Amino acid sequence: MEQTFVMVKPDGVSRGLVGAVVSRFENKGLKLAAVKLMTIPQELAERHYGEHREKKFFGELVEFITSGPVFAMVWEGPQAVKNARSIIGATNPAEAVPGSIRGDYALIVDSNIVHGSDSPESAQREIGLFFG
Ligand code: TYD
Ligand code: MG
Repeated sequence: MEQTFVMVKPDGVSRGLVGAVVSRFENKGLKLAAVKLMTIPQELAERHYGEHREKKFFGELVEFITSGPVFAMVWEGPQAVKNARSIIGATNPAEAVPGSIRGDYALIVDSNIVHGSDSPESAQREIGLFFG
């Protein structure tokens, strides 16, 4: 059974969208395997987003993701990674289709409500970082 790492980012938690996000994954049929409410330390944020270290948005991304509590989750089920990415929607909310989380709840890429792993390998790495 595949697992994926999903988290409601600080904007989603502060807007009271944890329940709405969890409902969408439950409705799809994925199973919740672990949860943790936490504020991400700087070092964990930099490791989690390590692939983006050279990007111009990296500093603001780390600042944003450490700015308040996140709701970290592990979801499991068939093709959990792909299914979760499909529920979440495109990275840029302006391009995310209505019906996806980012399509329904977000406006700009800087604060797009939710994170989901982009491959089974990323999922294992991220689950290890947050729940290991
Ligand atoms: P990325 O891994 O490309 O997107 P996703 O979250 O869909 O896997 O980027 C990580 C996060 O970085 C993204 O959710 C929002 C932020 N970001 C920006 O702030 N500006 C950008 O131009 C991009 C591409 C991402
Ligand atoms: Mg990504």
